[in-house]
Amino acid sequence: MPGFWSGRRVIVTGGAGFLGRRVVERLCAQDAAVVVPRQAKHDLTVPGVAEALLATHEPETVIHLAARVGGIGYNQVEPAPLYLANLLMGTHVIEAARHAPSVDKTVLLGTVCSYPKFTPVPFREESLWDGYPEETNAPYGLAKKAHLVHAQVNAAQYGQRFAYLIPTNLFGPGDKFHPHVSHVIPALIKKCVDALDAGDDTVDVWGTGAASREYLYVDDAAEAIVLAAESHEGTEPINLGTDHEVTIRETVETIAAIVGFAGELRWDPTKPDGQPRRRVDASRAERLLGWRATTPFDTGLRATVDWYLANREDAERLP
Ligand SMILES: NC(=O)c1ccc[n+]([C@@H]2O[C@H](COP(=O)([O-])OP(=O)(O)OC[C@H]3O[C@@H](n4cnc5c(N)ncnc54)[C@H](OP(=O)(O)O)[C@@H]3O)[C@@H](O)[C@H]2O)c1
Repeated sequence: MPGFWSGRRVIVTGGAGFLGRRVVERLCAQDAAVVVPRQAKHDLTVPGVAEALLATHEPETVIHLAARVGGIGYNQVEPAPLYLANLLMGTHVIEAARHAPSVDKTVLLGTVCSYPKFTPVPFREESLWDGYPEETNAPYGLAKKAHLVHAQVNAAQYGQRFAYLIPTNLFGPGDKFHPHVSHVIPALIKKCVDALDAGDDTVDVWGTGAASREYLYVDDAAEAIVLAAESHEGTEPINLGTDHEVTIRETVETIAAIVGFAGELRWDPTKPDGQPRRRVDASRAERLLGWRATTPFDTGLRATVDWYLANREDAERLP
């Protein structure tokens, strides 16, 4: 819709994060009036903070991306805040948006970690409630899934308007490379680059390598979020993915080749593989949003490695 965003007031929570920055760039490029609240001043886990924000800025659109997010290691050591902080942030933002007269639509981000551990592949949205998620990321996945229920009951009872998107694992420039919080791709890139720097001829990798993942380039995800905010309304969850499933073994081999690490990859099967397989059916997104991911995995990986090499200090900072 040409001109839709021009002058439109939008709050993007988490807008300074990895995905948020790309969403904000797209909105600003279309002349939206974007506000990005930062956690240090506006901690959304605290009651009343979301209400005050919306009362001050009177946004028409709320895009809720703020979250505590990390890879398997982070989910293992910090399951409690991953559950509670995520649950509270979403709960507060949804209720604040419900009470704010200016807000027309709230966009929520789910996660592929909400799917049951043994979901038939490709994951269809109908399977979301068919079992408990993989244990290492269940607290995070369930907190995010509670927001879907919250959106559905508020839509049914109060007519509140939403879009709810479920992206697969994201990757791209701007990702977090600190080992405490990094996801699989930045963790593997850093290991290979560090090994090259140190002259090591081995890299240790968690798990067996047999698990598979589907990786979505961050700009493709940002495009879908902006499209949903603009043109979609409904509380049926919508998967965002690429239809391209890659084993962890293939992932690390591709990264090693791009980085130029030719040594040995040593698998550590005592560490968890995480969910056995992941690939979503993204046909609903194509049907409802007219969206399809367009960035090939290799192209996205090269861009990610290039960005990391040019921004190592920033990339490795603990958020
Ligand atoms: N990364 C993925 O692979 C992935 C996959 C599927 C879904 N998602 C979802 O996508 C969204 C964005 O993820 P991301 O990877 O971009 O995460 P991120 O880089 O860690 O960014 C999250 C942002 O949330 C903000 N935040 C955290 N705690 C907060 C609090 N208590 N109050 C206010 N703001 C808070 C932080 O703001 P400050 O910068 O101000 O501290 C941070 O910039 C999340 O909802 C996540 O669940 C991510």
